[in-house]
Amino acid sequence: MLEKLEELQKEFRESVGTLADKNSLADFKADYLGKKGKLNDILKGMREASADVRKTVGAKANEFKQEIQDSLSAQLLKIETAAINAKLEENWQDISFTDSVKAKGLLAAGYHPVTIIQREIEDIFISMGFDILDGPHIEDDFHNFEALNIPDTHPARDMQDTFWFADMKHLLRTHTSTIQVRGMEANDPPFKFIGPGKVFRCEATDASHEMAFHQLEGMMVGKDISVANLIYFMKALLSEIFRQDVNVRLRPGFFPFVEPGFELDIECLICAGKGCSVCKQTGWVELLPCGMIHPNVLKAGGIDPKKWNGFAFGLGLDRLVMMRYHIDDIRHLHGADLRFAEQFKSY
Ligand code: DAH
Repeated sequence: MLEKLEELQKEFRESVGTLADKNSLADFKADYLGKKGKLNDILKGMREASADVRKTVGAKANEFKQEIQDSLSAQLLKIETAAINAKLEENWQDISFTDSVKAKGLLAAGYHPVTIIQREIEDIFISMGFDILDGPHIEDDFHNFEALNIPDTHPARDMQDTFWFADMKHLLRTHTSTIQVRGMEANDPPFKFIGPGKVFRCEATDASHEMAFHQLEGMMVGKDISVANLIYFMKALLSEIFRQDVNVRLRPGFFPFVEPGFELDIECLICAGKGCSVCKQTGWVELLPCGMIHPNVLKAGGIDPKKWNGFAFGLGLDRLVMMRYHIDDIRHLHGADLRFAEQFKSY
């Protein structure tokens, strides 16, 4: 009996690996373990056997049953894995931008360079503990002008040619400084945040001007904030962004919402300071107007200027992109020319 059992075991081991589908597995199982199966057939004579034989053969038969179950499960797993792999092989799609994809005339998606720069700057400021705020494109007079210390009659309104709506109360925001006001309204000091976004001006376009462009506003309000703090954050930003030393200069600049106000210029990276259409032949590009927040602005935002102060800055993102990638005409950024856009897909 024991011999027969061992023979059956050998036969099983030789054939189990050749089963290639679920049906043959089921048949095979019935063939070995079923009521009228091969194993029971051998064990038929058990009743008449001696106690000794019953013991050894019984133990062996139990072991074998377990082996059959385990081997069949393992074989099932093998069959299923092979089926999945075959399916994957059949339906595999190369989604990387290979020559074969190009040959089909498909274009790879990529980020616009302004988005690339914006996200980088967001990461830099997040690492320095700033929050990121947003604000609406359609604004009211209060958030775009009044609260920023630009009253109705102020000549500074002429600096920003505005797209007004027909009601003459609403406008397309001319700068992201609106986010400063909304940030102050929504937060109690101390706080620091940046606010990136699109802004709109009703002006003629040329190599360095567009009707819609991008700014990134920044604001830090706390106790005893100084110009030194402002310069520290601006330098940290520029060295991260350009990954090279850039020449900067700080000159006094007038903006009604800061006092004192500054213009932070960088030496033009397109012409290396020699003079070109982007820097209007001056060798310098205005990049970072900034200053100490005017007390009237803090007040308009609901903050007591006797207790708190801070700095603010407004970064022109399109110009930054132009400097970084050596683009000599801002109109390329909105031109929707795929030959232009394609160059950034690997960034
Ligand atoms: N909002 C100004 C503009 O668009 C830029 C600006 C200047 C923002 C000075 C600031 C600042 O926060 O302090 O021309």
